[in-house]
Amino acid sequence: MATPTLPPRQLTARRTTIAMKMAMAVSGALFVFYVLLHMYGNLKLFGGQSAYDVYAEHLRTLGEPILPYSGFLWLFRALLVIALLAHAYSAFYLWSRAQGARTTRYAVKKAAVRTISSRFMRWGGVALLLFLVFHLLQFTTNTIQVNGSHDSPYQRVVAGFQVWWVVVVYVLAMIALGMHLRHGVWSASQTLGWTGTARARTYANAVAVTIAAVVVTGFLLPPLSILFGLIK
Ligand code: HEM
Repeated sequence: MATPTLPPRQLTARRTTIAMKMAMAVSGALFVFYVLLHMYGNLKLFGGQSAYDVYAEHLRTLGEPILPYSGFLWLFRALLVIALLAHAYSAFYLWSRAQGARTTRYAVKKAAVRTISSRFMRWGGVALLLFLVFHLLQFTTNTIQVNGSHDSPYQRVVAGFQVWWVVVVYVLAMIALGMHLRHGVWSASQTLGWTGTARARTYANAVAVTIAAVVVTGFLLPPLSILFGLIK
């Protein structure tokens, strides 16, 4: 079917929308990579205090002597911040465009189909951002010390998750993360053109569900094991 020719303004708007969706997909892919890596690292808590503390120290000595102490970590942090800005900006752009376009026929039709999932993506994304602030204050800057102050990263994590409400916060955040990942991986597959056939859609959906399930289970194993005394 031939694509109808759009007026230049609409063509530019459509191109910007595609660019924003691409930015979301690419930055989202980096986050998926990061959370999988972070989740794997956290599982070292099952190896005991020295395994976890050595791992935490390794993150800081990675790349030495070419890079200074913590150099790689700071480069990676910078990349994550850039990706977060791109992700949040494009989400905001697409959100406000969808709001502004509600008077046109196409947007009304699209908004009706996407409302529930896209609303959860938006507010789920905001909830995840708030969780991230809490998380960094708790474990990276040590500003929030729930159950005493500890020098060892292992002891900080164990002390933190011995408190029930901290575990509840993490369980809720991981549910939000799982839903965000499931829908996000699926949307990114669509943006990248990987859902052209019924088979590809089934595959993309299975990949999205698997990534979400692995991340939620892997992240929740340490806090729950600590709360129930399996990790001390
Ligand atoms: C139960 C789940 C989680 C646990 C136990 C956990 C644990 C930790 C710990 C202990 C640190 C400090 C690491 C260090 O300084 O050596 C940390 C840092 C961090 N976590 Fe998590 N985390 C969890 C979930 C998440 C999730 C879901 C995200 C992202 C959505 C996340 C993002 C980060 C980030 C960005 C840092 C800062 C890394 C840095 O630059 O130093 N974490 N986490």
